[in-house]
Amino acid sequence: MRFNRHLVFVCSGSDCKKAGSKKIRKELKHAATEGTLKGHCKFFQTKCMDMCKSAPVVVVDGHFCKKTDTKNVMEQIKKA
Ligand code: FES
Repeated sequence: MRFNRHLVFVCSGSDCKKAGSKKIRKELKHAATEGTLKGHCKFFQTKCMDMCKSAPVVVVDGHFCKKTDTKNVMEQIKKA
């Protein structure tokens, strides 16, 4: 069994969706299948994480990225 290095949880609750989490997830998945993150990430969609005021919320290896965007999440993945 092969384990990916980074675990990325993207909130797909309604507030995060409104704030763009769907777009972030698409862009991250694209990077993970064709780009620099290829083979290094595993993505999960979550329900609301109760931090809607900080939407969109993405968790990278236990680190919460609040009011984030794809660029910030990519930086966090590279740091982790
Ligand atoms: S909708 Fe994402 S934290 Fe509530």
